[in-house]
Amino acid sequence: MKMTDAVAFKKLKRQAARMKHPDMHLKRMWERNPQARANMCVQTDQATFDYSYENLTPQVMATLIELAVEMGLAQHILARFGGEIINRTEGRAVGHHALRAPTDASFVVNGEEQMPLVHDVLDKLEHFSNNVINGNWRGCTGKKIDKIVSIGIGGSKYGPEVLSIALKDYATNGIESAFISNVDPANLDRVLNELNPETTLFVIESKSFTTAETVESNAKSARDWMLQKLNGKAPVAEIVSKHFVAVSTATELVTEFGIDHQNMFEFWNWVGGRVSLWSAIGGAVLGPVIGFDNFRDVLAGGHWADQQYQTAPFDQNISVLNALTRIWNRTLLGRQNLALVPYSYPLRDAVFLLTQLIMESLGKGVDINNKPINFVPSSSSMGDAGSDAQHSFFQYLHQIPEKGIIPLELLGFLNASGAEDRIIQGRNISHHDRLMANLLAQRRALAFGKENLAEPHKHFPGNRPSSLTMFNERTPFTIAAYIALQENTVDAEGAIQRVPAYDQEGVQEGKRGAKQLEAIFEVANRGKPVDLSDLDLSTRRYVEARLARQLPTA
Ligand code: F6P
Repeated sequence: MKMTDAVAFKKLKRQAARMKHPDMHLKRMWERNPQARANMCVQTDQATFDYSYENLTPQVMATLIELAVEMGLAQHILARFGGEIINRTEGRAVGHHALRAPTDASFVVNGEEQMPLVHDVLDKLEHFSNNVINGNWRGCTGKKIDKIVSIGIGGSKYGPEVLSIALKDYATNGIESAFISNVDPANLDRVLNELNPETTLFVIESKSFTTAETVESNAKSARDWMLQKLNGKAPVAEIVSKHFVAVSTATELVTEFGIDHQNMFEFWNWVGGRVSLWSAIGGAVLGPVIGFDNFRDVLAGGHWADQQYQTAPFDQNISVLNALTRIWNRTLLGRQNLALVPYSYPLRDAVFLLTQLIMESLGKGVDINNKPINFVPSSSSMGDAGSDAQHSFFQYLHQIPEKGIIPLELLGFLNASGAEDRIIQGRNISHHDRLMANLLAQRRALAFGKENLAEPHKHFPGNRPSSLTMFNERTPFTIAAYIALQENTVDAEGAIQRVPAYDQEGVQEGKRGAKQLEAIFEVANRGKPVDLSDLDLSTRRYVEARLARQLPTA
C-alpha cells in the first residue's frame, strides 16, 4: 500500500486543511490549552523530546501514529532487528544496531549469528587502540604514534570526524586525528604538510574499497608520500605495515593495496556506509584518540537509542515521533526543508553527517516495490550550530512568508560539559546560561511571533514550528544517543513511507559520469588525441579548457 492511500493519511489531509485556520496558530493553541501542549513531550532517563511547538495537535499526532501502525512500522522494526533482508534493492539485512549491542545480544542474518564476529573485531580494535596509546605500536623508526589520519569519505568519515571534534576534550592520550576525504588536492596537501611521517598512522576507511576518492586517490598518494619521506629508513613492507591500517568489508582489495589482513578491521555488508560510525570505521580512529572505554560509551549511547526505538510505545518513542513530525511537516503541510540546529558548538559538523543520513537515505523517487511515488520522501536539510545560526539564516526563519516556512530541529545540552562554563564578567550568568537563553528564546519567538502592524518590517508572524531534543550534558554516550536517534528516525521515515532507505543509486550514477571524463583526461595527458564528440557543447568547452589549462575567452 502507498502511504498516500492509507486511511489515516486521508484523515491527516483533512486535519492539515484545518491547521490553516487562524485559531490553530501556536500562540492561540498554547493560550487555549497550555497543559495539553506541555504534555506533548517525551521524558526518558536520558533525554526529553519536545514537540509542543510543532504545527500539530495531540489529535494530529494520534492520527500520525495510526498512519505508522497502518503502514506496518512495528512489523518493520521486528524485521530489521530480526536480521531480515529489509534492504531489498541490495538484498541485504540492516544491522548497524548490532554493532552497538551488548555481548549477550543476538543478530542472526541468513541463519548465522553475527554477534561473535562483531565482538571479535571489537576486541581486536581495543587491543590495537591500547597498543597505539601505550606505545607498543610504533612507527617503523621506533617513534610513538601521535597522529591518526583517517582517509575515507561520506559515511566513512563523517562519523569519526564529527565525534573527534565533538569529543576533543576526551582526547587526552596525546594522539590527534586528521581527516582526508575530498579528492581536491588541497585537502590532502594541507593535512600532509602538517604531518611527521615517523609518528603518523593512516587508517584507510572504505566499506567497498573501490571509492575513487579514497583508494585510488588519497590512499595511494598518502602511501607514495610516506614511502618517499621514509625512503631508506625501513623496508617498504615495514613502512606500510607500521603506518597503514584499513577498515573495510573487502579483504581481497585491501590485501591487493598492500595492507596485510592482520592490519585490517573488518565489517559486514549489513552495515550501510552512512551508518558505519559504530563499526571499526569509528573504532579505529576514535579508539586511539579518545580511548577505547570512551568508544564503548559511544556504542552504549547508540544502544540506548535502539532500545528506545524497539521498546517504547509509539506515543513515547522519540524516533517514531520525530519521523512522524517530519512526514507531517513535509507531506501534509508542504514544508520540504528542515533546519538542524544543535545548540552545541562542538557538534556543528553533525549537520553534515545528518544531511548525508537524511538525504542519501530518503532522497528517492520510487517505493520499495520500484513504483514511482507521488510525494517527496526526504527533507532537504541544512543547519549550523546555535547561536551562530541565529546570525546566519534565522532572519529568514522569523519573517519569510508562510509558504517558505522551514521547520527546525533543535538540540540542546542542559549543562555545560566538565569545567567548560564561564561566568560572564560583571554579570551573574554564565556562557551556558546565555546559550540556553538563546535556544529557548528563539523557539518561543518563532512559535509565538510578535504583532507590529504599525511597522510591518518589525512584525513577526510566528507559528513557525520546532522540536527540541534535550540531553543533560555532552558526553560520548549522549552524542551517540542523539545520532542513533536520528538514524532510527530516518529508518522509521523510510518504513512508513515505504521507500528504500538503504541504497544510494544516485551517488553511483555520479561516479560513472566522472569515470568517463577521467578516461578522456588520461588519454589526453598521454599526448594522444581524444574524441569529444559524445559530449554536449558546454561540457566540451570545459574539458577543452582543462586540457589547455586556460579558460575559454570570447
Ligand atoms: O556516498 C555514497 C557512499 O556509498 C556512502 O554511502 C558511503 O558512506 C561513501 O560513499 C563511501 O563509500 P565507501 O565506504 O565504500 O568508500
